[in-house]
Amino acid sequence: MALLKNKVAIITGAGRGLGEAYAKCLAAQGAAVVVNDLGKDESGEYLAEQVVNAIIATGGKAAANTADIATMSGGASLLQTALDAFGSADILINNAGILRDKSFLKLTEADWDSVLGVNLKGMFTVTQPVFAWMKENGGGVIVNTSSTSGLVGNFGQLNYAAAKAGVFGMSNVLTIEGAKAGIRVWTLAPAATSALTAPLMNDEQKQLLDPAHVAEAVLYMVSELSGNKTGHCLFASGQSIRELKLVSAEGIRGRGENSDLTAEGIAAASDAIFLDAPTMVINDFAK
Ligand SMILES: NC(=O)c1ccc[n+]([C@@H]2O[C@H](COP(=O)([O-])OP(=O)(O)OC[C@H]3O[C@@H](n4cnc5c(N)ncnc54)[C@H](O)[C@@H]3O)[C@@H](O)[C@H]2O)c1
Repeated sequence: MALLKNKVAIITGAGRGLGEAYAKCLAAQGAAVVVNDLGKDESGEYLAEQVVNAIIATGGKAAANTADIATMSGGASLLQTALDAFGSADILINNAGILRDKSFLKLTEADWDSVLGVNLKGMFTVTQPVFAWMKENGGGVIVNTSSTSGLVGNFGQLNYAAAKAGVFGMSNVLTIEGAKAGIRVWTLAPAATSALTAPLMNDEQKQLLDPAHVAEAVLYMVSELSGNKTGHCLFASGQSIRELKLVSAEGIRGRGENSDLTAEGIAAASDAIFLDAPTMVINDFAK
């Protein structure tokens, strides 16, 4: 039984990589998919159109959108494509992303603007019109793509980490604002082979980190299998699916006789205030 019969899904950056895997997985489960991507191959053909053709060739439903989501009009055009082609917008996966890695002191304004433009502003431009439509039409599910780089940091990715931490923050607010409107919101921190990493991997590593594995986690998130769950952040790779959460130490509280919140008191109570070493291993993709 198809999990997404009669559903319409919009996926940004779905011309290759993870987005392509999501598009094919969701289409195979009955969803009509808007495949957004501005990228072209060497012959000048849009990647989005190639993915759409592949989905249609296997009996699925899909429509291409080649807009730049870093612009307001480009972002807004995704909802329009969904409504024109399929009359609805039930699922949104904010997936498009770019990297411009450099250590902090070498970072330029252009590196900052382009990465924030796609990864963070691109989420705003696409989501606002879709969220408004979902609110008026009984709800929906939104998945926003963050990264362990943004959640715990990674050398040489200050711009990317700022954007991906911003995605996490936006997701948290959308969860709160969407709750009454029946809009469920997820944050996803994926790990998979990409155009950059695939040529460096052997067949076994490629299989372990196939984007198709992450697509299963996304299918769970956007289908009825996840019930009314909302507001969670999942790490997903071929080897592991697990929730990532901010944690709080016991700390010291109050201003009564038994508590000392002065600088000296904080120093004396540091065992209670600070947590042990972080439990998450970053960039250990296969674990
Ligand atoms: N691959 C990983 O291990 C990994 C890890 C953490 C986070 N992520 C995130 O997952 C997402 C997908 O990653 P991927 O590895 O599949 O990357 P990818 O580079 O293979 O695919 C991203 C796609 O987004 C498209 N795109 C870029 N800018 C766009 C724009 N302005 N408008 C429309 N489309 C645009 C590109 O053309 C490309 O096809 C990204 O947000 C990335 O940051 C990936």
